Amino acid sequence: MEMVRTSLHLLLGTLAIRRGAIIECPTHLLPEDKSTNLLAVWGLGEDYQPQFDVEDADRETFLSVTDGVVEVLGLVQSPKSNVQSQRSDVEHEVSTVRGSGWVEESLGTTAESSPIFFHRYATELTQQGIELIIPMAVRGELTGLVLLGGKASGDPFTADDLEVIKSMVRHIGVGVHTHRLLGEVKQQAVENRRLYEDLRAIYRDTVRAFAAAIDIKDKYTQGHSERVGKYSEIIARELGFGEEEVEGMAIAGYLHDVGKLVVERDIINAPYRIDAKQSSELNRHPAAGFEILSPIHHPYADIPLMAKYHHERMDGRGYPDGLTDEQIPLGAKIVTLADSFDAMTTDRPYKTRRTFDEVILDLRCNTGSQFDPIVVSAFCRALLKELNGGTKERRFHKMLGKNYLDATKDIPLLNQLLAELDPRPPLARLRKHLSKLCLEYLKAVERLPSSRQSPDPLCDPRGRRRNQIRKSHFVWLYVCRRWS
Ligand SMILES: [Fe+2]
Repeated sequence: MEMVRTSLHLLLGTLAIRRGAIIECPTHLLPEDKSTNLLAVWGLGEDYQPQFDVEDADRETFLSVTDGVVEVLGLVQSPKSNVQSQRSDVEHEVSTVRGSGWVEESLGTTAESSPIFFHRYATELTQQGIELIIPMAVRGELTGLVLLGGKASGDPFTADDLEVIKSMVRHIGVGVHTHRLLGEVKQQAVENRRLYEDLRAIYRDTVRAFAAAIDIKDKYTQGHSERVGKYSEIIARELGFGEEEVEGMAIAGYLHDVGKLVVERDIINAPYRIDAKQSSELNRHPAAGFEILSPIHHPYADIPLMAKYHHERMDGRGYPDGLTDEQIPLGAKIVTLADSFDAMTTDRPYKTRRTFDEVILDLRCNTGSQFDPIVVSAFCRALLKELNGGTKERRFHKMLGKNYLDATKDIPLLNQLLAELDPRPPLARLRKHLSKLCLEYLKAVERLPSSRQSPDPLCDPRGRRRNQIRKSHFVWLYVCRRWS
């Protein structure tokens, strides 16, 4: 604590005291820890590490001093003392700089029978030349002790000196107390954070177990919920969601099909395409999931809604409510894509999984009607990052299997789809395109050794025409850049 060291130097310098130390007494939050901490030391040797045990009785004694009876106690060994010895029936002669009833009371017993701090440490203190001990007390709590040696001049402390010392010690005490409180608050915050993290981990594990239970019911889609949770998490992160929201999206993915628990197992596990009646029974699961999840207090918002709307479509042809674009929460749109991608890339009893080309084709055809372009773009970007080596994590590879993705073939497909999904309006894309064309043309013109070799048929041999063209393209480039 720099502040405490500075304060000690100030205190010693002000009164020309040779040596001193400030020690912190244990906090009330740790009653079992009675040993002190050295906060600052000066003139007592670099190796000096005083460590005292401050018992409850000592604490009371010190606090009673602070209450105003005696606020400064000097311990010196006679006959070198610059104060007069008062008692000699203890192991060491103990004297007070300023006499008081408290000292008389405290020293009224022998060293062997007394628990009093001074009796235990008188030898050590006097050997170090400590003459004054000033307790620091704030709001009835013993914060610490200030140990001071004698004045460099050898003169005794005057009443004014003691007033200065007491005043400065009060300020130091408040500083130490404040620092201690801050430390306790930080410690409490860390502890609370840890407890919160533990609770969240328990919640996550419970949800995962729940997701596993859902998937067990469907023998053909083992691990589906977990994968949907992971894809949702990846998309949310790519969309720039905060960590809490990303985690919420993962939970939503894990739980999106929880409503299947109320659907007959035969329908879920049918090894053929189910008929209309069975399909309508199966389609109950989003609403059922909402009913199951609504009474639960989730640490993340909208989990039940994401389960309810994960089969809605942008064009309003989804279920259960036939919502359209803006009516569907973004989280539900993310789960929709994650769910569909996993359905397309895993084998089902009545169909094998699609190739990546087919998946891209499906996304191309259904983005805007079933899938939100923003969500599809984020998904493609995240996958592209992994294929390009932009991320060390290989989450897609792990979920899709080793041989499913082929970077050489898939990267161009993803880039192509991303270009098509560019959310900017066509005019903005045209501006960008024109700007690029102008720039390339200018570069080509500048590279020409002479106008004779100009690829531009408009350039005449003398170059006048070429200069005109260059000027006009500069204007175009400027306009396009400003425009975009
Ligand atoms: Fe579903």
